[in-house]
Amino acid sequence: MAKVIGGVFTSHVPAIGGAIHRGAQNEPYWKPFFDAWPPVREWLGEQVPDVVIMFYNDHGLNFFLDKMPTFAIGAAAQYRNEDEGWGLPPFPVPPGHPELSWAIIEKLVAEEFDITTCQDMLVDHAASIPLALAWPDREAPVKIVPIAINTVQHPLPSAKRCLALGRAVGKALAEWQGDETIMVMGTGGLSHQLDGERAGFMNPEYDLFCMDNLSADPDALTRHSVHEIVELSGTQGVEILNWIAARGALGDKVHEVSRSYHIPISNTAAAVMVLETEAARAAGNAGAEKTAELA
Ligand code: DHB
Ligand code: FE
Repeated sequence: MAKVIGGVFTSHVPAIGGAIHRGAQNEPYWKPFFDAWPPVREWLGEQVPDVVIMFYNDHGLNFFLDKMPTFAIGAAAQYRNEDEGWGLPPFPVPPGHPELSWAIIEKLVAEEFDITTCQDMLVDHAASIPLALAWPDREAPVKIVPIAINTVQHPLPSAKRCLALGRAVGKALAEWQGDETIMVMGTGGLSHQLDGERAGFMNPEYDLFCMDNLSADPDALTRHSVHEIVELSGTQGVEILNWIAARGALGDKVHEVSRSYHIPISNTAAAVMVLETEAARAAGNAGAEKTAELA
């Protein structure tokens, strides 16, 4: 049976990709953000996922304002990253897992989510940069199932709906008969606003509220309407919807493994968190006990 081990939650600012390409990880501006990643990689090294369910938002590379699905799921064998105009060379993107994609799609439709299925799909910085951070210097050794949530053009789905979507994905994973080790990623946020009179707006108090409640009480994040989240978090801070959906896929009980919060990266309050499922923690402990017995 497949194992769901937990999730990595991270901001996805394009300038991070620029810093990776320039090798600027140790510059004073970048170091506090990149320092969040060794503990994440240590966790990935212990849990060794082979599938990533990627909850993110597309910023105009695959969907533009003329066609904007609320929830879109990739069902391709291969995805591609392309130039989005940020001046970043395209990142490598790992292969897809069409069979698992279709199992998730079947479940979501059975659970009455009206989704868009994409058998041909470009994935932008919101998917490629988090993978490059988790597995630097090589293509991520995983298969991916991208799930794009509209956080761009209103009306956006509510936080409650995104949490429910994630929970339905969690049910699909629980029913999946494969033997993969599966993790989720939720990308975007935290607070930021790129445009308008409040450009540059960030709200550490709201960000802390989100990080503090994500593991034990994700429903607390659904108390705010989308418009309240925009007010609290900025026009692009509403990308927290991707985190909320990813959290939903992990079941009731999760443990916080690591957390980092740093202001600013470009215009964004940058956060990185790892949450581990109860099952993965129990298996990890069992493994540790076994090693002790052998010693
Ligand atoms: C920035 C943040 C984002 O989430 C994004 O998609 C693009 C740019 C920024 O802060 O520059
Ligand atoms: Fe973004």
